[in-house]
Amino acid sequence: MKETVKIAIDGPAGAGKSTVAKIIAQRLGYIYIDTGAMYRALTYKIIQLNLDLKDTSLLINCANNTSITLDNSLGIANQLVYCDGKDVTELIRTPAVNKLVSHVAQISEIRTIMVKIQQKLGLTNNIIMDGRDIGSVVLPEAKYKFFLTAALEERVKRRQKELLEKGYNVEYKTVMNDLLNRDLLDTTRETAPLKIAEDAIIIDTSSLTLAEVVEKILAIVMEGEKDAL
Ligand code: CDP
Repeated sequence: MKETVKIAIDGPAGAGKSTVAKIIAQRLGYIYIDTGAMYRALTYKIIQLNLDLKDTSLLINCANNTSITLDNSLGIANQLVYCDGKDVTELIRTPAVNKLVSHVAQISEIRTIMVKIQQKLGLTNNIIMDGRDIGSVVLPEAKYKFFLTAALEERVKRRQKELLEKGYNVEYKTVMNDLLNRDLLDTTRETAPLKIAEDAIIIDTSSLTLAEVVEKILAIVMEGEKDAL
């Protein structure tokens, strides 16, 4: 089998991972895989079913009986997320899902289910995948690993703007608490916590424009792939 190129992008909430990853995927013609969307889709279903978040085995059972797919047929910029055949693309970005997703994502058995799906997607395609454990757990062999970060204030501002664009007028302080809570849960959980992979390149995006971050990453990948591109 031909070796595929894998780009891993990790980092905390609001660091700009998915926006950057989408543009790079488009530029290189790679498949983009938003692993956060997968945890979000499952969380959405758990909320819809009103499952008790403390009942871990119930949540694992739910994950085992859920089909989550990413559909790029409308282009990467318009990637659609399906949960059990239902389009949940918009429904997974609500404050309610933001609040609970890291609780669901800390369950080790649920992570095993998701990681298996994610690794399979990487087998046959050139991919760029973003999340929290991509460089460390999902694609430890990835040739390119980046860790995007930004000052808390900047990440809060970006997320608040994003929410506003979706019609949710959320107070700065509330957005900040959501990010801080998720960062705390994501970095301290037992299984696959958010951490900087040893061989990852760290990019602080606080004072960089989107285009600057994209160009930084592209320059590195294009140099490495100059014979293949
Ligand atoms: O877009 P944002 O940075 O807010 O988050 P996301 O990438 O959509 O991920 C939402 C949540 O899913 C994270 O806060 C993590 O709790 C979880 N997640 C994870 O545990 N592992 C991943 N590979 C991706 C997301």
